[in-house]
Amino acid sequence: MHLTFRQLQVFEAVARHLNYTRAAEELFMTQPAVSGHMRQMEEIAGLPLIEQVGKRLFLTEAGEEVQKAALEMINRAEDLEMRLADLVGMVRGRLGLAVTTTAKYFAPHLLGAFSRRYPEVDVRLEVSNRETVLERLAANRDELAIMGRVPQGMGVTGTAFMPNPLVVVAPPDHPLAGASRIAPERFAEETFLLREPGSGTRLAMEQFFADRGLSLKGGMELGSNETIKQGVMAGLGLSVLSLHTLRLERATGKVAVLDVNGFPLQRHWYAVHLKEKRLSVVADNFLAFLAEEGAGLIEPVVFGEAGSEPKEQR
Ligand code: PGA
Repeated sequence: MHLTFRQLQVFEAVARHLNYTRAAEELFMTQPAVSGHMRQMEEIAGLPLIEQVGKRLFLTEAGEEVQKAALEMINRAEDLEMRLADLVGMVRGRLGLAVTTTAKYFAPHLLGAFSRRYPEVDVRLEVSNRETVLERLAANRDELAIMGRVPQGMGVTGTAFMPNPLVVVAPPDHPLAGASRIAPERFAEETFLLREPGSGTRLAMEQFFADRGLSLKGGMELGSNETIKQGVMAGLGLSVLSLHTLRLERATGKVAVLDVNGFPLQRHWYAVHLKEKRLSVVADNFLAFLAEEGAGLIEPVVFGEAGSEPKEQR
């Protein structure tokens, strides 16, 4: 008996979900059919590939090997399909994109426009914080990632396609709201709400303090941009957020953006991929699309425009 491509596909789905029911749903198969494939694979391998401890499934060492190989083969087959489609003049296939949580405020707009241009492309979007996106990149789980800084020493390459200004947010009635050119030392006396460890926004904020030898008075740690905004409105502290996350709150005056010297932190959004990865035709097209019109598809976010903010633009 030999391994079949279908068995590898089934194994890959089970290994990813570590759950037979979810794998069966994804593959439009019945659960017994999935279990049947897994049993056959273990017979071929001659040793267990998956272990059950209590209710949880784990990959064995052999299972991890099979998972790696299955992923490589599936990616290779998808790539082949895309290249064949390209030869007949079509852009067709799958685009797996991982974006940091802050990029979710604009990524769907980019993908919407891309899908209208290339309706034959199937897009999968994964949203997680920077650390998880980096883990996914290293494991070659996605074609491309969108994040706020290109990681160093990881063998990746990144192309900037749009500005990402980070600003200081405060409740509108905060004593510093409306003040100009606030010294970082004054601002550092405040309590700050922090994103979870692993967040790119948090890293940038910590870096600002570290670069100036200031200590950061951390208040609550709140695990998302949305919760941070609610925390700021509730008066629990100040924070640093990407302007992309603040469109609604600025328009409705629910938060104030403070004019602190050194802000906005001028960052960019990058499309990142492993240097050694052979990009699919679809991914190549997406990069070209981002470079040509990515920034133009997103309403620009500009510091100093909303009512309660300093007028001066920097
Ligand atoms: P975050 O990332 O959502 O993890 O804070 C933003 C970024 O990539 O800088």
